[in-house]
Amino acid sequence: MPTPTNSLKAVRGTRDLLPPETALWNHVETIARSVFSRYGFGEIRTPIFEDTQLFARGVGEETDIVSKEMYTWEDRARAQSEKAQSLTLRPENTAGVVRAYIEHKLGDTGQLQKLFYIGPQFRRERPQRGRYRQFWQMGVEVLGPTSSGAESPLRDAEVLEMLATLLDELGVKGWRLEVNSVGSTDDRKRYNAALREALQPVKSRMCEDNQRRAETNPLRVLDSKEPADQEIINGLPKIADFLDESSQSHFAQVLAALDACGVAYTVNPRLVRGLDYYTRTTFEFTVPDGSGLGTQNALLGGGRYDGLSEMLGGPKAPGIGFAIGEDRLILTLQAQAEAEVAAKMDAYIAPMGVERNAAALALARELRRAGLSVEVGDGGFRLKKSFEAADRVARRIVILGEDELASGVLTVKTFATGEQTKVTRAEIAAALRA
Ligand code: HAM
Repeated sequence: MPTPTNSLKAVRGTRDLLPPETALWNHVETIARSVFSRYGFGEIRTPIFEDTQLFARGVGEETDIVSKEMYTWEDRARAQSEKAQSLTLRPENTAGVVRAYIEHKLGDTGQLQKLFYIGPQFRRERPQRGRYRQFWQMGVEVLGPTSSGAESPLRDAEVLEMLATLLDELGVKGWRLEVNSVGSTDDRKRYNAALREALQPVKSRMCEDNQRRAETNPLRVLDSKEPADQEIINGLPKIADFLDESSQSHFAQVLAALDACGVAYTVNPRLVRGLDYYTRTTFEFTVPDGSGLGTQNALLGGGRYDGLSEMLGGPKAPGIGFAIGEDRLILTLQAQAEAEVAAKMDAYIAPMGVERNAAALALARELRRAGLSVEVGDGGFRLKKSFEAADRVARRIVILGEDELASGVLTVKTFATGEQTKVTRAEIAAALRA
């Protein structure tokens, strides 16, 4: 006797994506691919797991991602010649792309590399709406040797302008771009020291998390949403006062180019972002409350990482990129009721009686071959059930009964208008396309 067991479920923080929602995912990815290619990006696919060291060194040991959110395991050696290795499911894709850039010596081409990716990432976060343990990102990275112009503020502005275009083409309403500059690595060191000093006398009045951050990674205090601590945080030193001249001028040029393109933005001096590799420009796009994301209102984030390649043992390769949280983008589109893009099928063929099933399938074959999307019902359904099923999935219903088969004239009903017409077999494809 088999012992009864609990039924298995998807792991906490992961989910199945099912039709018809997957049609929206495909639609979003198709538009993203089309926009990315118009801006000269080519696709890169890197492995889903990497050496743990890549993220420890790239993203930073002190970040939340590396210190508590990674799925890491010891991969045992399978042969004497192999060594055991610590591996990690990628929590993000920038480090992997830069590793691939170094490994394949893409810098030797002297050309600017414009790469995009679409794929799942993994972080052991507390799951909630818009925050999952397996989530999807659509991202780009622009990097290359300094001589390729990779450091130019023009590249930052181009990436931001492309995002504005992409979000508009997707129909995202009310997005806001927040930008900041976190300066060079040296600027950030000086700012960190100043923050630590400013936090010293006030930190005991802050929440436990911020007290800990004040010690381990003072920049993270700026991300805090703790209402009681906001007054103290607003009074802390601002990164803008610690930028050296070249970072200041770089940032001014990014903003001037955005102005020239007519892309609206807000400078948010607290936007420092949760990954250690950022230098100079950082940014996030957010959506208004009520866009389906709850407190997770960051649709996407990114920035410049001029020292990352060197941190990973590669050549100097300044770069900038972003990653869109695709799950959040979908939630936003659904909440903003733009989800109709997952359009209904052209027709539903309803055979009247099982003896009409074969004829219905033959008609469906003809219409599908003519390029129409068609669903076929079952002759065993009552008329009412056929109408209900058709209304759910298709714009029109085609009735196929004995009379219709004998006369070759079919009855077609359009749900949106309620209009019912008779159409000859020869004209049916054109009528359904209208
Ligand atoms: P990030 O801010 O960690 O940056 O993630 C980018 C976006 O991924 C977030 O704005 C959010 O929409 C989405 N996201 C992050 N975590 C989750 C989660 N647990 N569930 C659902 N969505 C999530 C990066 O990952 C950088 N690699 C971006 C980048 C590219 N910077 C330069 N190049």
